[in-house]
Parts: sequence; structure tokens; C-alpha cells
Amino acid sequence: MTRFYVTTPIYYVNAEPHLGHAYTTIIGDALTRWHRLLGDDVKFLTGTDEHGLKIQQAAEAANVTPQEFTDSIAPKFAEAWKKLNIANDDFIRTTEPRHKAAVAELLQRCYDAGDIELDKFAGKYCVACEEYYQDDELDKDTEGEANQCPIHHRAVEFFEEENYFFRLSRFEDRLLDWYAAHPTAMTPEQRGNEAIGLIKSGLRDFSISRTSLDWGVPLPWDDKHVTYVWYDALTNYLAAVGFGDGTDAYKDNWPADFHLIGKDIVRQHCVYWPAMLMSAGVEPPKGWAIGGWLLSGGEKMSKTAGNVVNPLDLIDDIGLDGFRYYVLADTAYGNDGDFTWEGLVGRYNSDLANNLGNLAARVATVVAKKCDGLGTAPDPDSPLAAVATQAYADTAAGWATVQPSRALDATWSLIRATNGHLEVNEPWKSEPGADVDRVMGDALEALRIVAVLVHPAMPDTAQALWERIGMTGNVVDQRLPAAAAWGQYTAGSVVTKGDALFPRIKL
Ligand code: MSP
Repeated sequence: MTRFYVTTPIYYVNAEPHLGHAYTTIIGDALTRWHRLLGDDVKFLTGTDEHGLKIQQAAEAANVTPQEFTDSIAPKFAEAWKKLNIANDDFIRTTEPRHKAAVAELLQRCYDAGDIELDKFAGKYCVACEEYYQDDELDKDTEGEANQCPIHHRAVEFFEEENYFFRLSRFEDRLLDWYAAHPTAMTPEQRGNEAIGLIKSGLRDFSISRTSLDWGVPLPWDDKHVTYVWYDALTNYLAAVGFGDGTDAYKDNWPADFHLIGKDIVRQHCVYWPAMLMSAGVEPPKGWAIGGWLLSGGEKMSKTAGNVVNPLDLIDDIGLDGFRYYVLADTAYGNDGDFTWEGLVGRYNSDLANNLGNLAARVATVVAKKCDGLGTAPDPDSPLAAVATQAYADTAAGWATVQPSRALDATWSLIRATNGHLEVNEPWKSEPGADVDRVMGDALEALRIVAVLVHPAMPDTAQALWERIGMTGNVVDQRLPAAAAWGQYTAGSVVTKGDALFPRIKL
């Protein structure tokens, strides 16, 4: 069985889950649901990033200990993912013992390899990014001093202390060689090129410990220091497969197939992380799929920018699957997307209410009127058979390259063609008989295939559609590519109409 291990970033618990977090998590959920349909042995991991200065400060502001603070927020992420129908196989918190054991193991290995050394450090630090900046990377303030974080537009802080450093500068050639040997590891290509650019522009050693902070994992050989939050956080991907448990069992699930990440955390994931792994003698992941930002009013949605949209509020308005579909279909993965209510409703009405919902409703209506409510057999030579074959191939290619919007557009080509087939044949105008039966059989068979192909994006809708056309069992138990082959609809199944799957929404 093919193993398929996918991760989301682990989210900082200084903020409650918002649309920006939901974005990557829904992409990961849909991608891994697709792979389950392919019969892969899937592991889908998400979790929370709970150490570091940002969290310590948030806890102080809330007048509670960092542990109490993280204990109060982490479950909100788990609950949000449940409400969004996210089928993660594991949820990791960086405050768990299994995680701390993995961090200690990775640190020790890099230290033993001679790639972690003590040094003096002075630099400018953005607490929101948990990242050091050089002057030439910062924006200038009103007095012309380079001290503004380019992402958070707030002042950085000056830190000076004795730190342990990871000797990243030693890995420049090794990283470039590795990426040259694995040219498709980062997708989409333009985002990967940005990472290669970062490596080529020269790598500086980075500080991996702090003495001025105690909310973190202590260094195994010097417990006056706690680990830098990114070194800590990245290790979650290994911790969740058992790295650090004293055995090599983690190798059953490692390397990961895809780390899904936002474009703002490419440096840490595509430069720091593979270098840390190389130092520790662990294979780098097989792939990174790098997404853009979901913007709201032109800015990255974030607590700091004050433009947070709560995904759970949107579900109340548009339905869970309408929301999931919008997130997956509206923006090509890798590009930025602009979230607007008009955009959400527009896409819902056109693709879901008018296309898929309308197709399901008109098929059920005609079958009720002209076929006694019982499904009929598809024509093996239907023109829709070739469309379905192509739609499957293109849908599969879309998911294989982590391009959900392309995958869904390919699935929709079958929906559009089926609506077209009905419009050309106008079975509602014909007398009951063989011609009507054949056309309706074609449409039911197309809907059966559509139900399977839309499952990753809209699990509830897929199952509802499956049951309405009278299929038994569950969509999740179907296996591709077999389930996409034309001609499997069971004639004589009871077709039911039910309420509109996607009632039109007025703007
Ligand atoms: N804790 C780190 C990740 C550590 S992974 C080892 C972190 N957390 S975060 O909560 O700030 O953001 C996590 C991810 O969510 C980032 O990839 C970021 O790009 C993504 N998003 C946060 N806001 C977003 C949008 N508005 N749009 C799209 N993605 C966004 O960084």
C-alpha cells in the first residue's frame, strides 16, 4: 500500500483559528481524502505551536501561565477542525512529551554532528514572526531607521545574548545539490524558485537557543538555554511519527510526502528544515506545497492586522460544504486569494446552486416523472463516457500536483457536460421510453462518478448525492480509479429528490 503523509503548519495559539488557518487545513484535508480514495495509507497531521516568546507574552497579557493559556486555546483549533469536517489522523501539541523527546533527539544529533555551536549574538527580532532580521530586510520607520518588520509592520526588538547557533552556512551547497536532484520537490514552481533564491543569496547561521526565555524545550546539554521556537516547531513533523522514541520506527512514515505551508514560512521549511535534517542524518521530506495568502482587504488576514474572518461564522451563512468548496476552488494554490463575501456567494451560486445542485434536482425530477422514480441504465457508448474519462484523468492530475482548483474545475467539466447533454436531449419534453431511459441513465452515471470525485472537497454533499441517486454504501469506501470507470450505475435504484442541495443565496 502506498504511504502518504501530509502535514499542515502547526498554528500559533496566540490567536483563535481564523480563515487563514482554515485555508491550509482544508487543502490538506481534501488532498488526503483524495489519497484515501486512491487506497493509500494516509496520515494527515495538524496541531498547535505552543512555545516561544509570542505565546509567553500572550499568556502574560491574559494573566495566566503559558501552559494554562495554551491549554485554553489548543482545543479551539481541534474543535474548529471538527466543525470543518477535517479528518486529521493526529493532532500534535508541542507541549506534549512525545514532541519534547523528538526535539531533544534532533538537537542532540545536530550537536553531536558539530553543527550547533555557542556564539555571541546581537540582532533585531520580530516577536510576531519569531524571527531575526538583518537591516536590509527591514522597512524603515518615519525617522528612516530600519526597524519595521516587513510582514507585521511593527517595530522589531533588539536582542543581545550568548546563543547556540546552527551552522546553516555550511549547508548551502548541500541544499542546492539536493534540490537539483529533486527538482519537483517544491510546488508550485515559482514558489520553489523563491526558496532556491534564498539559498543562493547566501545562508547565515541562525541562533537556536535563548536564555532570556523559559517557555520552551531546554537544550539537552545545557539547560540554561531553551530551544528557539522554530527549531522546536519544525520537529513536530518527525515527533508525530515517533522520532525520539528510541527506535527507528519513524522511518515507516518518513520522509513526509508533503508539508503544506504558507509563503511566509518558506525560509524555515525549505531552507532551515532540510539542513537540520541533513545534519541529523535524517532524510529531507519529499515535498513542500507552498500556498499564497488569503487576503482580506488586501492584507494577509491576521490578528495583528485586525481583519480576521472566523470560518465558523461563514459556515452558518453558506453551509459547510459551500465554504470548503469556495476555499478549494476559488484560488489557484500558490497564488494569493482575496476573500470577499461577494466572491464567496458568486462562486457558490454559479458552481454549486446553478451547476451541481441544479443537475441533481433536474435529474431527480425527470426520473420521478418519466421513469417511475427508478434509475435507468447508462449507455455504454454515451458521449459522456469519454468526458468522464477525461474528467477523471484531469481531476487526478490536479490533486497529484496539489492544485485543488484545477482538480475541481476538471470534475466540474463532467457536471457541465452532463447539464449540456440534458439540454440537447430535453428528456423532460419526451414521452417515457427507451430514449429518455438512456439519457437519464447517462446523467445518473455521471452523477455517481461526480459524487466520488467531489468527496475530497465536499464529503457530506458527496454522500447525499450518492444516496439520492439510490447507490448503497458509502462514498468513502469507493476506490479510484475503478470507481470512476463508466457504466456502473445500478439500474432500478430508487432516486429521491430531497431538498435543494445548494439553495441559491441572495447577495
Ligand atoms: N507556528 C508557525 C508555523 C510552524 S510550522 C512548523 C506559524 N503559525 S501561524 O499560525 O502564524 O501560521 C501558520 C500558517 O498559516 C502559515 O503558513 C501562514 O501562511 C498560514 N496563514 C496564516 N494566515 C493566513 C492567511 N491569511 N492566508 C493563508 N494562510 C495564512 O507560522
